[in-house]
Amino acid sequence: MWQIRGPSPYAARANEKWKGNPIATLATTVDGLRLPNPFVIASGPPGTNRNVIGQAFQAGWGAVIAKTVSLDATKVINVTPRYAKLLATNGEVIGWENIELISDRPFKIWEEEFKQCKDRFPDRILIASVMEEYRRDAWVEIIERCQACGVDAFELNFSCPHGLPERQMGAAMGENPEILEEVCGWVKNAAKKPFWAKMTPNITHIEDPSRAALKAGATGISAINTLRCVMGVNLDTLRPEPTVEGYSTPGGYSSKAVRPIALRMVMEIATLIRREFPGRSLSAIGGVESGADAAQFILLGGDTVQVCTGVMKFGYEMVKPMCDELLAFMAKHQFETLADFKGKSLDYFTTHADLVKRQTERKVAQKATTSAKVVQSDDEWSGEEFVKQSSALAN
Ligand SMILES: Cc1cc2nc3c(=O)[nH]c(=O)nc-3n(C[C@H](O)[C@H](O)[C@H](O)COP(=O)(O)O)c2cc1C
Repeated sequence: MWQIRGPSPYAARANEKWKGNPIATLATTVDGLRLPNPFVIASGPPGTNRNVIGQAFQAGWGAVIAKTVSLDATKVINVTPRYAKLLATNGEVIGWENIELISDRPFKIWEEEFKQCKDRFPDRILIASVMEEYRRDAWVEIIERCQACGVDAFELNFSCPHGLPERQMGAAMGENPEILEEVCGWVKNAAKKPFWAKMTPNITHIEDPSRAALKAGATGISAINTLRCVMGVNLDTLRPEPTVEGYSTPGGYSSKAVRPIALRMVMEIATLIRREFPGRSLSAIGGVESGADAAQFILLGGDTVQVCTGVMKFGYEMVKPMCDELLAFMAKHQFETLADFKGKSLDYFTTHADLVKRQTERKVAQKATTSAKVVQSDDEWSGEEFVKQSSALAN
């Protein structure tokens, strides 16, 4: 009899829906951390204090990564407004810019709240996101103090794209594989818990900093953080947005629109892990809003899937339909566990030259049966048929 295992409140509903299918579970163990499902709150506003972290656990999220903390929050000063949205023509939010910094709350308060969260939810996974200056003693101190509060793991924020570059924090560090390797080495010596290095996408080859972190002993990689962007310019005021006292500064881009870029980078990191660091984990991030989105990231090698902007758009309860949808996908393909399909689609990437070879072979085999309406060579593009021809070349 097919059943979803685990304590989830949506299990009964889902069991009813897929009666007769094999046993399936979303429960997973990653780096020794036992998660009821792979959906993880990404570092940001949805994990910014103990109240919202509690809300996330109650809604059924698999784990929570708290908002990034540093030892000295007095230097963290946020502005308002700090978000700007990109809307599709139907009004849907598809892109989100933020110029928000890491947590502006004192580290001492966070120490208390980490402890309170673990007291209240002892079986749930709480991950501290940490960011520090380029000093060994600072990294060792923040790791040891968080560890003493009972957090289950760490995410090292090497990827915050704005603010604090003068202190060489965040992306300023993550863009430099040598520094990143050194810092991960410090953390490796201090951490008694697993730690994931969170990558910036604002770099040409994301494999380089990922390799450096893994070489130094990082348990896993998280990717991606936000892409540096300018959301737009207001055509009445001629000011870039978000506009603060008439001025702006480039921010970080997230939400649905970044998903294809995130999928590509996750694919590249997963391929690196497969070849050079088998067994290390990957937490995939970028524009996830549904179970189908999550399935794609897992097919490209993700162990877990993080969500930040989605929660800001839809609220914490979104995790329930995401779990249902991911289970429906698994039932359709008769997958019983996430491991059954993790990385399965990586096998279908190859070089462009190999695509040409495969297509030529297929055409020869089928005696070139391709529709005459599809452009075969660049000579055939016509001004009148241009839009139709472009569309015919898509999947
Ligand atoms: C408003 C906002 C604040 C964020 N703050 C943090 C942060 O403090 N630390 C961090 O590592 N990432 C931070 N992020 C990045 C997210 O964790 C995530 O990597 C990124 O937004 C892409 O995922 P998404 O499309 O699901 O939002 C923030 C993102 C947003 C939108």
